[in-house]
Amino acid sequence: MRKKILAGNWKMNTNISDGLQLFLEVKSAWSQTQSHGMLCIIAPPSTHLAQFSASPELGLHTAGQNCSEHEAGAFTGETSAAMLKSVKADYVILGHSERRALYGEDNTLLKRKVDTAFRHDLIPIYCCGELEHEREAGMQNEVVKRQLEEALFHLNASDFGKVVVAYEPVWAIGTGKTATPVEAQEIHSFIRSRIEDRYNKIVAMNTSILYGGSCNPNNADDLFAKKDVDGGLIGGASLNASDFMQIANSLSKCI
Ligand code: PGA
Repeated sequence: MRKKILAGNWKMNTNISDGLQLFLEVKSAWSQTQSHGMLCIIAPPSTHLAQFSASPELGLHTAGQNCSEHEAGAFTGETSAAMLKSVKADYVILGHSERRALYGEDNTLLKRKVDTAFRHDLIPIYCCGELEHEREAGMQNEVVKRQLEEALFHLNASDFGKVVVAYEPVWAIGTGKTATPVEAQEIHSFIRSRIEDRYNKIVAMNTSILYGGSCNPNNADDLFAKKDVDGGLIGGASLNASDFMQIANSLSKCI
């Protein structure tokens, strides 16, 4: 079922003691909030996961920020899907633009990562989004369509129905530039219509599509008010419990 979701992508930030303190602050604030079926997903560095005890019964889950496409073996520096699952992660972020740009991850590789995640019962939070020059050339829909088709649309409807899609325009990530609510709504609606074309209306209506890219307590209300924006994937502002919970509060107003 389509859910409102707030996900925090901590990237390569915090040591274990700062991270644990931040996680416990978020967990305590979240458990006092009326979450109305909303989900909160925290994606810390993988070194922290074993010490972060989530509360799925309160809608609080943890996620990896990436996983290997391989099962196990001689892949120095990689983390497998099975390892993430063994420390109780329920989700994994795949296709983040930093992985695409800095580590050369393309849609073909991401398709394999999506399949590996499913084999281990991890739900992908699949990121898509265009570069600045692609938006300037009006190519955003084409780019996002290809990212969906090449890495996700091989899934059957039942597996696709579990995936969370995150639209993150690359030019808005960590830059302070945000897509306007109208721009976000346009492309979220486009994504939903592509899902409907590939699967059906029910699958499309049930898919949570998150916005990411400089989302913060000042712009969250307006972004989340749009009908096809089901929540946010938050980077910088997820490193401050108070900012993150203000964003959660904005999302809870849309239920
Ligand atoms: P940002 O990052 O909120 O710092 O722009 C979002 C993301 O990269 O997921």
